Amino acid sequence: VTGTIQRSADDRAVLHFEKSHKRIEAAKKLAPGGVHSNVRLNEVPWPLSFHSADGAHLTDVDGNLLLDFALGQGPLLLGHRPPKVIDAVERQLQLGLLYAGQHDLELEVAGLVATMVPCAERLRFGVTGSEAVQLAIRLARAATGRGKVLKFQGHYHGWADTVLFNVGTTGPSRDGLIDIITESTGLAPSSSKDVLVTQWNDETVLERVLSDHGSEIAAVIMEPVMANTGGVIPPRPGYLEATRRLCDRFGAVLIFDEVITGFRLAPGGAQARLGVTPDLAVFGKAIASGFPLSCVAGRASLLDGVEKLGVNHSGTFNGSPISLAAAAATLTLLSDPSQGIYERLNRIGTRLLLGLREVATGSPIPLVVQGFPELMATIFANVPAIHGYTDAEHADSGALHQFLHSLVAQGVRPTSRGTWMLSSAHSESDVDAALDATRRSLQELA
Ligand SMILES: Cc1ncc(COP(=O)(O)O)c(C=O)c1O
Repeated sequence: VTGTIQRSADDRAVLHFEKSHKRIEAAKKLAPGGVHSNVRLNEVPWPLSFHSADGAHLTDVDGNLLLDFALGQGPLLLGHRPPKVIDAVERQLQLGLLYAGQHDLELEVAGLVATMVPCAERLRFGVTGSEAVQLAIRLARAATGRGKVLKFQGHYHGWADTVLFNVGTTGPSRDGLIDIITESTGLAPSSSKDVLVTQWNDETVLERVLSDHGSEIAAVIMEPVMANTGGVIPPRPGYLEATRRLCDRFGAVLIFDEVITGFRLAPGGAQARLGVTPDLAVFGKAIASGFPLSCVAGRASLLDGVEKLGVNHSGTFNGSPISLAAAAATLTLLSDPSQGIYERLNRIGTRLLLGLREVATGSPIPLVVQGFPELMATIFANVPAIHGYTDAEHADSGALHQFLHSLVAQGVRPTSRGTWMLSSAHSESDVDAALDATRRSLQELA
């Protein structure tokens, strides 16, 4: 890998991405857009190609070293290639790849999840978050005998037909319900009939919708912290508790989609950090440090629908020994307080969160920095804080685009949505370098 780093007048590195550009143009001839996940189309300056990664850094095909705050869109809580995870996977590679049968790592990881995650009485492993969400919904429908799923404006639960509505687009609302907007062409026309959408973070609206439609609603599904689209938005104080009470009152299964928050916000996820236990929770991303693994965990009576109510859950790669070796090593580290991982994430992440807030005071366009030390967002909006989709809708996406463009040219890479993820591989000096780059990017915006 070779590349040149040029310097601007103020002696900062200005990175170039020509080889990535050539790669993406070549790739477009073989794959639509040259990428294999639509999310990657939104990257600045264009979808980048990478050669390798280590710790908190990526090396791209131009030879640029990028300080990574995207972390594979979340999974890399321990950074790129954490040695203990790589060792465990290498050991498993010598033993076997797939057995079409059971193995001890399944038991070990299930036991770790059960001790870490409050709702986890039983679980089933899958591969991606998207498919795990499907199992959670199926379990809820089987248990309640009801058909509809209530989701929230702006919340993302994967790319399947059941839930790909009202993520980045919204419609008019009436009686607490927001018109259904599909986020993709080609969805089954009937899929929108089984979903209802309402505003998140508003107890009164939720109570109204459940009062009107509760008897039809099998599941209420939400990100307990809205973190995929629109920023990182914590629930208002008491909102999750109210949701828990309302789901109990109306007999709906409460599903937390913890694909982003799981293991990141606490060993037990957002439910442990925020103190509200759902009936079912979906995990993915950070559970296996970058190896593909997801799970649905929750109440035994619901998971037992697989045996007792005829719920089908299948998958060739479910319980992959390689992914479970990675998960066993990951969760062993995360569940051991003497490793100091969460303490480190908190300390370094607080430095980043407070540092970004301080730098934001000099922004020429109002910039909100909010979230948690482990997961935060920079949002160009003229409001004190973002509480939901409606606030986020007024964010200045053009300013964000320019800001990210300038950051990546200086070798700092948050996600293309302006989310910053932290790993235990980030250091104080990484954070300080990111803050310097942020300061310069905001000056350029002016
Ligand atoms: C909150 C949330 N749920 C579900 C998913 C889907 O997971 P996957 O991309 O592994 O299918 C994502 C992916 O980003 C997510 O952020």
